[in-house]
Amino acid sequence: MKTLIIGAKGMLGQELAKAFTEFNPTVWDVSDIDITDQSQVNEKMSMLAPELIINAAAYTNVDACEENEELATKVNGTAVGYLARVASNLGATLVHYSTDYVFDGTQQEGYTELDTPHPINAYGRSKLAGEQDILSLRGSEQYPANDRSNLNDENRPFGDDKVASLASTPPRNDRWYIIRTAWLYGHAGKNFVETMLSMAQAGEPLKVVDDQIGSPTYAPDLAQATFDLVKSGKPAGIYHRTNSETISWYGFAKEIFEVYGKDVDLVPCATMEYPRPAKRPTFSTLVSTKLPSLRSWQEALREYASFHH
Ligand SMILES: NC(=O)c1ccc[n+]([C@@H]2O[C@H](COP(=O)([O-])OP(=O)(O)OC[C@H]3O[C@@H](n4cnc5c(N)ncnc54)[C@H](OP(=O)(O)O)[C@@H]3O)[C@@H](O)[C@H]2O)c1
Repeated sequence: MKTLIIGAKGMLGQELAKAFTEFNPTVWDVSDIDITDQSQVNEKMSMLAPELIINAAAYTNVDACEENEELATKVNGTAVGYLARVASNLGATLVHYSTDYVFDGTQQEGYTELDTPHPINAYGRSKLAGEQDILSLRGSEQYPANDRSNLNDENRPFGDDKVASLASTPPRNDRWYIIRTAWLYGHAGKNFVETMLSMAQAGEPLKVVDDQIGSPTYAPDLAQATFDLVKSGKPAGIYHRTNSETISWYGFAKEIFEVYGKDVDLVPCATMEYPRPAKRPTFSTLVSTKLPSLRSWQEALREYASFHH
């Protein structure tokens, strides 16, 4: 399948290039294409005519989004509309990534693909705009209501054979996947694991917030899960893909030091003690009702550490 990966120098983009080697993908980053430039997007993508477009490009600095919401909305929102339109015209499958931060984090039991987004920061709003652009191109501008009796064909729980067969032959230009993920770390770029390890070197007590709960997700696992989803021919729709099980940032840090055998004076603290420009959701676990869970974040962390000791 002729495949294009955009945002290829990013943390996830680099893993996607590896996971999709079988497809010999074309990899583009911001120096090859600025996704906020519609004429460039139209021209370059039409020339290449990919059958599969994977967009890992994004404005991902959550705190900086507060000051630069206009730019964030251009990259994470408007530009996604440009990509969705071109994908549709080319009859290509579009894979796009979104975030747990489209939710407000008040739901302790986490969020399924059916839950209605309600972002509490600029990054979440900009990512939601991107989701909406893809959804609106399909003629469905509404998110499914939280009423679970109202499940439509792409939002039914995993295991519904009737729905799977109904949706197994969608029109080609109806092939799109929005994959929501969370708390990503990987081999490329800065990440929480490396930040913790380098902060610990100072030998000072380390305070980490203990009242934000989510699922740390290993970028290579997400890239592989993307490959599996594309190959599965599953119906178009929103999918949740994170490593399984949940933890706070403090709990994640504790496990990191355990795995790396570091004796660190780690102190749990409340978000209030560590104010940042962007508000974060308290509970942002993404529940997957359409696909089986990925391996646990603890197992994935051990694999990461085996490469970075
Ligand atoms: N990181 C997380 O914790 C997390 C959590 C949930 C969801 N996600 C989502 O997962 C996806 C991948 O995230 P990531 O962490 O891999 O991102 P990343 O490392 O920040 O990579 C994003 C890439 O997009 C490029 N880019 C920025 N603006 C662009 C533009 N206008 N045109 C073309 N390329 C542009 C960036 O280039 P420059 O670096 O040169 O700007 C960078 O190479 C994103 O959709 C993100 O929203 C991430």
